[in-house]
Amino acid sequence: MIRKLAIAICVVLPVTVFAADPLVPLERANVDVTNRAALQRGAALFVNNCMGCHSAQYMRWNRVAADIGISEEMLAQYLQVTGERPGDQMRIAMPAADAEGWFGLAPPDLSLVTRSRGTDWVYSFLLTFYVDDTQPLGVNNLTFPMTGMPHALWEMQGLQRAVFSEPADGGVPTFDRFEQVTEGSVSPDEYRRAVRDITAFLAYVGEPVRAERQSLGMLVVFFLLVFFGFAYMLKREYWKDVH
Ligand code: HEC
Repeated sequence: MIRKLAIAICVVLPVTVFAADPLVPLERANVDVTNRAALQRGAALFVNNCMGCHSAQYMRWNRVAADIGISEEMLAQYLQVTGERPGDQMRIAMPAADAEGWFGLAPPDLSLVTRSRGTDWVYSFLLTFYVDDTQPLGVNNLTFPMTGMPHALWEMQGLQRAVFSEPADGGVPTFDRFEQVTEGSVSPDEYRRAVRDITAFLAYVGEPVRAERQSLGMLVVFFLLVFFGFAYMLKREYWKDVH
């Protein structure tokens, strides 16, 4: 029994560690969840490119509309193209069982992904897909090696090849650089911005009250400063006669 367990650990552990560890340092996402224009662009990109497979079911459509500053008419026209009601959750039509059949695993709900993985991870993940003919989907990913997700944004980014440098002593090859194979529909800078906007939207979805909390925080600090001023003046007033 113990021997079996030990063997299982030895076999499974290196595989999971290998599969989960990014091969490159994460890039900083630097998202700003108070930037409504970015959240609006991110929401549109997410609905059009990701919700074919991923839900964000802890969010309701009308809450998103209110938070990112769009009317319910715009919501219906641009985001809810398949006719959901404003109060519905951001679910998808694809049954999980079908998804498993197609991809080998169901695409996870992304409501909390920026909290489980971090914004830098999500941003880097969407930047580091590269062509790899040894993979079932023809692409691999430096941030999430051997991922089961296809490169959903390949038309936008274009396809890139990863060049690895082989150390002279025959050690593990390390990532060197990307080379563009096919042109994307947008420039590399525009692609980065699009990916940052999607990440910002997901960061907002993961913690919808964050923007609110940040502005409330400023208000509290302001209040404390003013209060300190009054308290100080009051103290001087009281102690005037003592000295
Ligand atoms: C064709 C279906 C499909 C589309 C479209 C798609 N994904 Fe995925 N995605 C998947 C699958 C399947 C996985 C699970 C991959 C795995 O675990 O190896 C996944 C995993 C992920 C993960 C990692 C989740 C985790 O914590 O493991 C993130 C983040 C993600 N997708 C973001 C996106 C974003 C953002 C978009 C839109 C730009 C998108 N996906 C579009 C199928 C899809």
